[in-house]
Amino acid sequence: MGVGTAPDERERAIGGQNGHVPNVGFTSTQLAARAAYLLRGNDLGTMTSAAPKLYPHMWSWDAAFVAVGLAPLSVERAVIEMDTLLSAQWSNGMIPHIVFANGRDGYFPGPARWETARLAAHAPTFVDTSGITQPPVHAIAVQRILDHSRRRGRTTRQAADEFIDRRWGNLVRWHRWLAHARDPQGRGRITLFHGWESGMDNSPRWDAAYANVVVGDDLPPYRRADLDHVDDSAMRPSDSEYDRYLWLVEQMKRAHYDDEKLPQVMDFAVEDVFVSAIFAVACDVLATIGEDYAKPRSDVRDLRAWSDRFRAGVVAASSERNGMARDFDLRAGRWITTETIAAFAPLLCGGLPRDRERTLVRVFDGPRFCGHPDLRYVVPPSTSPISPDFRPKEYWRGPVWPVMTWLFSWAFARRGWPERAVRLRDEGLRQAQDGSFAEYYEPFTGEPLGSMQQSWTAAAVLDWLD
Ligand code: SER
Repeated sequence: MGVGTAPDERERAIGGQNGHVPNVGFTSTQLAARAAYLLRGNDLGTMTSAAPKLYPHMWSWDAAFVAVGLAPLSVERAVIEMDTLLSAQWSNGMIPHIVFANGRDGYFPGPARWETARLAAHAPTFVDTSGITQPPVHAIAVQRILDHSRRRGRTTRQAADEFIDRRWGNLVRWHRWLAHARDPQGRGRITLFHGWESGMDNSPRWDAAYANVVVGDDLPPYRRADLDHVDDSAMRPSDSEYDRYLWLVEQMKRAHYDDEKLPQVMDFAVEDVFVSAIFAVACDVLATIGEDYAKPRSDVRDLRAWSDRFRAGVVAASSERNGMARDFDLRAGRWITTETIAAFAPLLCGGLPRDRERTLVRVFDGPRFCGHPDLRYVVPPSTSPISPDFRPKEYWRGPVWPVMTWLFSWAFARRGWPERAVRLRDEGLRQAQDGSFAEYYEPFTGEPLGSMQQSWTAAAVLDWLD
């Protein structure tokens, strides 16, 4: 603590010795207050929009991360967030990737394009949703909610306990749907039928699979809304990528979003190793919650079995040489080898033989990722800067995503690597010092990109500073 520092600034340092970093100088209290203020601003009542303009609705994995950030502020509000999401769960168990906020425009494709209530037998009719899913990070949020509730008074604990009693069935149904509908052969990897389901829409991981998506002449016309909300269209996926995204939606609609038909009719079908690793760890997290809260043993047993199955699926998808994990293109029958953050999937769920894991950690730390000498902050970029696919400003083709930094820091803490977790946290907080809470950042310059005021970026900061 520097001499002469005001008493109210005597708090934990962020990336510096006196609670300030050179570029802006927020104290940790100020930064947390700004993050909380942001979430309050994006709060629509019972859901938090993922971002005020670009994403004015609730996104599934965003909602889970948002709940992680809300939990230290208000367990009750975090519970409401999860309740809203789970209320929109489809009757087959799928959690849809978007729950639309009533009466909010500015996003495409909206409910009129998805038409799920009319076409899908399992979609709810009292709320509008999309017809695809997103990574299953929700158990992580539930765990955080329960952990925070134990530090609070009786009524808060009770609210959390009631939540887990009320929603246990939803959560297990969600995991059961993923294990069955999205891994019908029991290969231990989740199949996606749309790149948006990965959350990493235009990652180079999907380029080869999208190259095989042939857009039909009868793709109904559309107008993108996302480009209205970013400074530079190069930060977003291209028009030809969007055509393919919309074509896949069309294929799903024609199949009435039917789980049985999608494997036959979709041009895009990939096994996503990153989602599979998240699922493996989420099953374990949920199983432990089930044990702690005396939930049915058969549920806990299923969850542990899915965790083992998917961990094995991730390990089987990893390179024998360095442990880097690959996705599998089911249409081409080929492994996908691109150098992206998804290659580190096994570090999330564990299971690699020791040597291979050590090698993979070295790749994570080394010049192909976090140790690249030109990086502004020591955090993993979405695509390796030395990959020919790398584009420093283009969405998932290179930028740093703070929420990914958070996920790895969470996972490293869970894996028993506290120093690694803290290092990522500290660097993530240094990056957040610009105060923009951007969706993603240019890895070399630190320029904030995409949407500003992104809810999950604020949530990551709140959790880190708690
Ligand atoms: N991330 C996608 C979008 O940009 C959809 O989930 O709209």
